[in-house]
Amino acid sequence: MLRRLIAAAALLAAALTAAPAAAAGGPLRDLAEARGIYLGTAVTGDRLTGGYADVAADQFGSLTPGNEMKWDAVEPTRGSHDWSRADRVVAFAEAHGQRVRGHTLVWHNQLPGWLTGGTWTADQLRTLMTDHVTAEAGRYKGRVDHWDVVNEPLAEDGTLRRSVFGATLGESYIADAFRAARAADPTAKLYLNDYSIEAVGAKSDGMYDLVKRLLAQGVPVDGVGFQAHLILGQVPASLEANLRRFADLGVDVAITELDVRTTLPATAEKLDRQKADYASVVRACLAVTRCAGVTVWGFTDSDSWIPDFFPGQGAATLYDEDLYPKPAYDGIAGALAPVTPPAPGVCSVTYAVTQQWAGGYTAQATLRNTGTAPLDGWTVRWSQPAGQRVTQAWNTALTQSGTEVTASHLPYNATLPPGGSAAFGLNGTWSGTNPPPTSLICTSGT
Ligand code: XIL
Repeated sequence: MLRRLIAAAALLAAALTAAPAAAAGGPLRDLAEARGIYLGTAVTGDRLTGGYADVAADQFGSLTPGNEMKWDAVEPTRGSHDWSRADRVVAFAEAHGQRVRGHTLVWHNQLPGWLTGGTWTADQLRTLMTDHVTAEAGRYKGRVDHWDVVNEPLAEDGTLRRSVFGATLGESYIADAFRAARAADPTAKLYLNDYSIEAVGAKSDGMYDLVKRLLAQGVPVDGVGFQAHLILGQVPASLEANLRRFADLGVDVAITELDVRTTLPATAEKLDRQKADYASVVRACLAVTRCAGVTVWGFTDSDSWIPDFFPGQGAATLYDEDLYPKPAYDGIAGALAPVTPPAPGVCSVTYAVTQQWAGGYTAQATLRNTGTAPLDGWTVRWSQPAGQRVTQAWNTALTQSGTEVTASHLPYNATLPPGGSAAFGLNGTWSGTNPPPTSLICTSGT
């Protein structure tokens, strides 16, 4: 009975989650693709069933295994690999037309006990590391879109982190890892990934210099991943400029682990702020041509690392624990909304002879923007088959050629808001009769 209830709740949640996606014009993954980036999420492989699987598949164009590709997961015993959990995430992604961000080949955390408990010479450690990279990148050759080859190489001040790799091997371990990864999977984009490098500052300067050095040595670095584990209200103002300066080095950039944590309990006000924060990170990526995409680090608060690692904080993702989309979902959808070219303005025009005397007349025309978008420039055309000649005009740039008259906007009345109008006038000469034009054609544009 309980299981039935849970299944029913999952179905209901799935149905509810479809609503805002439809309202925003499509699931997040489609909105993102249409804007030229991917929207991805980290997932927990053994949760990929029911409503969790539905949301993961429907809304995201890229999956990152949250833990399943880490060294401790794939080689718990030295020399004996267990790919089953990683395989499952990759197979799920392939079944749902999703890319895979491989995470991560070389990192100082979540290492197998046999490695951290052993004593190794520098040469032994280097060989263990490159063998591991070769085995894992080779296993998923051609099936991983991006690899986080080295994760978190830097200390907070931007110098090389004194991890087991940094301390034992020096900076050269990074180049070795990238070269081994390239050899094992020539098509995957190879990334350096770190946290607290989102803003321009000491740590991101360190990363910037590191990437420059690696590129100068011909190391195959294709991209830099900005984890973006952010605190509510603290999206760095320099995020976009920072992404751009890395892109200008000739590498791709990506937001790889986005979440926005807050102290609990989360209030409506905080969730609104969070919506704005998610939107501004997505907008920063969209603004930088070489930003490949944005990955959120878990899509539901029930699958977020934050409460375990930051006591008293949480609510960091875009769906709540029951898989209801939070305001952050709408924030992302809004940022990804299609950019519609401004609708062409629509205008109408009236014309009246306001004074007439022997041989001369004055006419007034009024042009109105009858569309819903601003009118950016306008031209009115008509003909004067009775041979009238315009001798003077005001509030318009007017020319006459034969019987055809063309009256266009001047700089000061070019732009008309919806419902707005502009009046112009003219004096002319006539003989015989002075009939008003039978049709005036109003067109928009400069
Ligand atoms: C986290 C996972 O989400 C947790 O499940 C795990 O217990 C610890 O690691 N930076 C990273 C990720 O690069 O691999 C981390 O993932 C979060 C911080």
